[in-house]
Amino acid sequence: MQVIVGKNPKAVGEMAASLFIAQLLRKPDSVLGLATGSTPLPLYEALVRARQAGALDASRAVTFNLDEYVGLVPEHPQSYCAFMWKHLFADLGFRPEQAHLPNGVAGDLEAECARYDAAIDAAGGIDLQLLGIGHNGHIGFNEPDKAFSHGTRVAELTSSTIEANRRFFASEKEVPRRALTMGVLTIFRARGIVLVVTGAAKADITLAMAEGDITPEVPASVLQLHPNTVLIADEAAAAKLRR
Ligand code: GLP
Repeated sequence: MQVIVGKNPKAVGEMAASLFIAQLLRKPDSVLGLATGSTPLPLYEALVRARQAGALDASRAVTFNLDEYVGLVPEHPQSYCAFMWKHLFADLGFRPEQAHLPNGVAGDLEAECARYDAAIDAAGGIDLQLLGIGHNGHIGFNEPDKAFSHGTRVAELTSSTIEANRRFFASEKEVPRRALTMGVLTIFRARGIVLVVTGAAKADITLAMAEGDITPEVPASVLQLHPNTVLIADEAAAAKLRR
């Protein structure tokens, strides 16, 4: 895992954006894996600025998001689909068919997971995957577990993740308890991975993920084994790294 430290979240966003811009210059029809959460926002803002400046053309890109809440229709303001259109897709001029998210209101959730993995495969696999990280080391919604998960699946959210995500909802009761998420193996199969992490509150998990034991108890730690992962952290999140 290559580690790059930026001064602050904006610098992290700009460095991560350059990797995505370079990817699209090399391969305009890239398959990109995307993430939600507050950490990717400076990156998405940088991509939108780049498009406005004429430095980014994503018209041939295809995207697959990591996850979606179970039970929220795509139009729900807190759905990850709505998040992506609000913060990125609309401003990049995306057509609906370019962007893929798991359908959290599918009648058969298991079949939807299988369909999603098949769609990623049919697109040729993910060229560059963006990740954030939860305070407990989760990636997508792959929570700490006894084993690394495989394909896209229905995941139960832990109480700490529900608590962390309640800031986006009127009350804790409204936070969905389940989500569809790419599995750890789905993520690991991406040809390149960019993991962004910012803020002092994530310094401990950044250390555990990058330098601790590789264990499903810290799902992101598996990225130490990935041949092409770049961790971009701000100074606050990187403060405890030793190597
Ligand atoms: C959610 C998402 C993750 C994200 C995490 C951290 O749980 N499913 O993909 O990495 O939140 O979010 P934030 O960047 O807001 O800390």
